[in-house]
Amino acid sequence: MERYSCCRWVLACSILALCLGGQGARCQLTSDFYDSTCPQLYYVVQQHVFDAMREEMRMGASLLRLHFHDCFVNGCDASILLDGDDGEKFALPNLNSVRGYEVIDAIKADLESACPEVVSCADVVALAASYGVLFSGGPYYDVLLGRLDGRVANQSGADNGLPSPFEPVDSIIQKFAAVGLNTTDVVVLSGAHTIGRARCALFSNRLSNFSATDSADPTLEASLADSLQSLCAGGNGDGNETAALDVSSPYVFDNDYYKNLLTERGLLSSDLGLFSSPEGVAASTKDLVEAYSSDGDQFFYDFVWSMIRMGNIPLAAGSDGEVRKNCRVVN
Ligand code: HEM
Ligand SMILES: *[C@@H]1O[C@H](CO)[C@@H](O)[C@H](O)[C@H]1NC(C)=O
Ligand SMILES: *[C@@H]1O[C@H](CO)[C@@H](O)[C@H](O)[C@H]1NC(C)=O
Ligand SMILES: *[C@@H]1O[C@H](CO)[C@@H](O)[C@H](O)[C@H]1NC(C)=O
Ligand SMILES: *[C@@H]1O[C@H](CO)[C@@H](O)[C@H](O)[C@H]1NC(C)=O
Repeated sequence: MERYSCCRWVLACSILALCLGGQGARCQLTSDFYDSTCPQLYYVVQQHVFDAMREEMRMGASLLRLHFHDCFVNGCDASILLDGDDGEKFALPNLNSVRGYEVIDAIKADLESACPEVVSCADVVALAASYGVLFSGGPYYDVLLGRLDGRVANQSGADNGLPSPFEPVDSIIQKFAAVGLNTTDVVVLSGAHTIGRARCALFSNRLSNFSATDSADPTLEASLADSLQSLCAGGNGDGNETAALDVSSPYVFDNDYYKNLLTERGLLSSDLGLFSSPEGVAASTKDLVEAYSSDGDQFFYDFVWSMIRMGNIPLAAGSDGEVRKNCRVVN
């Protein structure tokens, strides 16, 4: 589409280099990208996220995670939304885990009536995530917009590129580095676990048969371990039961995630790995956890900048983008 060619963005692209590298890595994103082409955008997204969270508060967290899992695979290009057996939805970190697809569909349907073929699905996901944070009590930030939707999903990219809760911190740091994010981003963005839930299957490794000498992880506070053990032994024992990632304020976006790590109330092994894992901790992550646990304003400030950096992960150089009409299929 002519509208998206770099030539229209001479002012924004005062550095020519930003415009090289194919359509995928097009010009810098801007916060006013749709101000003239789709001024209704903010209202529409806000309303849908608000309604979805009024129905189920957790949806704010789910939309935030959807954006993360989109950005880490082929850039923030809505590739995660593409249906099909070989899609990212079926990758291990996403299957029966990532939520919020229907909310994005509903937003996109309204946008296609209000301003057809203008707003990319990737931008919808980025904006929806920001309202998920805001309506959970987190910081407001201007979301940079102007992404294009990718034309391919990358299931193996999702399987290999997304961090696992069972991975040591060093290897998580490497996965962030692979998409241009650093150790500060790892600690700051992990703070997203101040909201939302995780299935037993993702933390039951800490509840029984933990080691030769301990049944439960000794760095899991005893009363929390007890309640998680009974939660995960209940139901069908299928690992589908969920616990709050932040046990002290599950639906509030605050810095309790870090405070919990200091008091042995982190949920996932990977959360713990930032601070006190038996497998070893990077001193740099430990210091940051301590800093954010005592300074919520600093966490909010840094979270915004890390979200902007994550939201800037570009489409792979040379790959082509479009504005999808239906977020589930390429045009
Ligand atoms: C650092 C490496 C990370 C690991 C290993 C990790 C792992 C996980 C796991 C295992 C779950 C539970 C999934 C399930 O129950 O099916 C989860 C949930 C969640 N993650 Fe992460 N995550 C990481 C980083 C992030 C980042 C960077 C963000 C966003 C900026 C994020 C946001 C969330 C949210 C909001 C939830 C709850 C979702 C919901 O309730 O629907 N995580 N994460
Ligand atoms: C899928 O992602 C991997 C990185 O994890 C990348 O090397 C590969 O080129 C991607 N494939 C496609 C088709 O985009
Ligand atoms: C990560 O990058 C940000 C932004 O460039 C910077 O402020 C921060 O100090 C970096 N952190 C590390 C550990 O290099
Ligand atoms: C714990 O380990 C024992 C001995 O290896 C095994 O019999 C038992 O099934 C394991 N329990 C769980 C919950 O995995
Ligand atoms: C766990 O949840 C998934 C997805 O909803 C489902 O396919 C699976 O059957 C569930 N397991 C059991 C034992 O119900």
